[in-house]
Amino acid sequence: MSVIAFVGSPGGPGVTTTALAGLLTWPLQPGRRALLAECDPDGGSVVAGYLEGRVPGPHSLANLQVADRLGRLEAGLWEQMINMSVPQEAANRLLLPGLKSPAQAAGLQQTWPRLATLFGAWHRSAGVDVLVDLGRSGSSGAAGALVRSADVVVMVVRGTLRAAAAARPRIEALRETVGARAGHGLGLVLITEGPYAERDVAEHLELPVLARLPYDEAAARVLTHGGAGGRAFTRSALLREAAVMGTRLQQLAWSRQELLAAPAGEVSAGGTR
Ligand SMILES: Nc1ncnc2c1ncn2[C@@H]1O[C@H](COP(=O)(O)OP(=O)(O)OP(=O)(O)O)[C@@H](O)[C@H]1O
Ligand SMILES: [Mg+2]
Repeated sequence: MSVIAFVGSPGGPGVTTTALAGLLTWPLQPGRRALLAECDPDGGSVVAGYLEGRVPGPHSLANLQVADRLGRLEAGLWEQMINMSVPQEAANRLLLPGLKSPAQAAGLQQTWPRLATLFGAWHRSAGVDVLVDLGRSGSSGAAGALVRSADVVVMVVRGTLRAAAAARPRIEALRETVGARAGHGLGLVLITEGPYAERDVAEHLELPVLARLPYDEAAARVLTHGGAGGRAFTRSALLREAAVMGTRLQQLAWSRQELLAAPAGEVSAGGTR
């Protein structure tokens, strides 16, 4: 079980869309669950977007501030989640809706690190893989704790000069945030819009491309604004490739956990013994 952080940069490269596609297609082992936690300090967008406002109550990350102060962060977290599973599935794909306003982020200063610790522990205790949407600004400041606790951190980029230029300084900041935890835990998800090929983007940003998603406006529109996408959506190239991305990110997270768990002296240059 794993924590995967998705981060972005100015220009809206598609972090939320990518993380949501990741949740809907995440490769779940029997009895396991996946959670998309909208921890973007600028606010969440899945409830008003993909869910078109149709939610059972005022669920939000913002409500965790009080729960945390009362010493019941974990219980509060479960109460704020929304079931995102398809009808035939058990309730195993969950959403923690984000803030309704960036002004609410200040109230969570103390809570971010505790949330990071909780997510990190859940891969053992609760059988939950956590996908964290940190948006463009959540990878630094107090919410940066979520980056440090992640097994894998991905920067979502497009193959355009504008996107690469916006991503570069953020990646430098990210390297500082993850510090010694850098290495194969940090990489790119490339949305294949624009003239730059995978190799160009990887070279320019000095990070490996861990997964590629197609530029698929119709499917992305459903993930961003909702609406009945029908079979064209469920069979879209975007969801198909998102499933491939999920498998890849999960495997990377597992190998990273293995690497970090190996006793000192048992780790060779190529990984664990
Ligand atoms: N793979 C894709 N193909 C085509 N369009 C996409 C794709 N991913 C995202 N988009 C579109 O890009 C726009 C921005 O997407 P999204 O809201 O996910 O970006 P973001 O990085 O989360 O932005 P913000 O920083 O504002 O939260 C939306 O219109 C969305 O439909
Ligand atoms: Mg977003």
